[in-house]
Amino acid sequence: MKEMKKGLEGVVALDTKISYIDGIQGILKYRGINIEDLADLSYDAVSYLLITGKMPDEAELSEYSRMLVANRGINGKLIEVLKHFEFGVEALDGLRTAISCTAHFDEENNQHTPEANKNKAIKLVAEFPTIVAALHRASYGDEPIKPMDNLSHGANFLYMLSGKIPTDLEAEAMEKDLILSAEHELNPSTFSLRIASSTLSDMYSAVICGLCTLKGPLHGGARKGVMDMLDEIGSIENARDYALGKLERKEKIMGFGHRVYKTLDPRARIYKDVARRLAEENGDTSWFDMAEELEHILYHEFVEIKGKPIYPNVDFYSAVVYKYLDIPAELATSIFAMGRVSGWIAHCMEQYSDNRVIRPRAHTV
Ligand code: CMC
Repeated sequence: MKEMKKGLEGVVALDTKISYIDGIQGILKYRGINIEDLADLSYDAVSYLLITGKMPDEAELSEYSRMLVANRGINGKLIEVLKHFEFGVEALDGLRTAISCTAHFDEENNQHTPEANKNKAIKLVAEFPTIVAALHRASYGDEPIKPMDNLSHGANFLYMLSGKIPTDLEAEAMEKDLILSAEHELNPSTFSLRIASSTLSDMYSAVICGLCTLKGPLHGGARKGVMDMLDEIGSIENARDYALGKLERKEKIMGFGHRVYKTLDPRARIYKDVARRLAEENGDTSWFDMAEELEHILYHEFVEIKGKPIYPNVDFYSAVVYKYLDIPAELATSIFAMGRVSGWIAHCMEQYSDNRVIRPRAHTV
């Protein structure tokens, strides 16, 4: 038996055309295009690129957006089901069950043709934001707000959450958040989705595997962890004691470190810029200032003193963006999933297209 790598660190499990990461130089590409060049596009365009492998031309993008808008509504039976959920601290539990229900309402659920999979892909991307917003409103006993057709994917989500049309900058921030969250090679949730897909299970089941894996605090759940941490720190003056206390107790600081990046995550840089602009528009820069102070303290502790390559990851400044967008922490992981669903679908389709069941071995001790 070959050597066992704990956590599969450095193990190459498959070939992909979907994304590329250089963790030393801090490069991320979706379908060969740098993330910096994608961040200013619309989420619809990036979703199309990820799922089809091709940058859409104007007509293709307009048709894709039209189909997403046409599929934003959710089944009335699902809305009734959402009202019966027990609402705890994590909306992702509700989202997971809601996607499972959605599969029941889709007559193509167990059809495996390329056409059926294409239809499921559109429904999943289109319905995720509507479900997350409806879940949030149901937790307060409020009825869902109907989607607004002329708003972008991200702006419409913010509208369905609060009933207010977002500012241009808020809409841009939400679109960027979904783009930056959309894909990241073989991260844990995508790997679990690929395993499910490799058994030729259906796309909904595969996406539910992704959701279950994203939930953990060492993966997508870290975004909520950062929001909770910023609340706990409370003010910039407390940042140093908080950080040093955590390090002394050998506890992990949420939003820092990465298995692949040994430099600043390129998405963190883009999020930081958006967070700064939102703070300025808001007229209250305290969340941003506190986060930046924490970044400086930890750079000194991790990099300068200990020589460890631990930098802010995607979850750090995204949490600051959510603070300025008035997004409650319990929605953070679900919103991450709203973006990631396009990457998951692309990986599900790539696995189906050249499949061999994923079945590694264990070293018996
Ligand atoms: N705070 C304090 N110490 C850390 C941190 C952190 N955030 N991250 C890594 N370290 C230390 C760790 O204690 C260990 O030290 P030592 O060698 O002295 O035992 C060393 O760095 C290596 O850490 P590891 O946990 O073995 O590294 P890993 O590659 O297994 O884990 C990670 C990567 C992302 C799970 C980890 O950095 C972590 O737990 N970070 C905090 C949670 C987080 O922000 N997760 C989001 C991950 S990125 C986006 C996503 O997937 O959603």
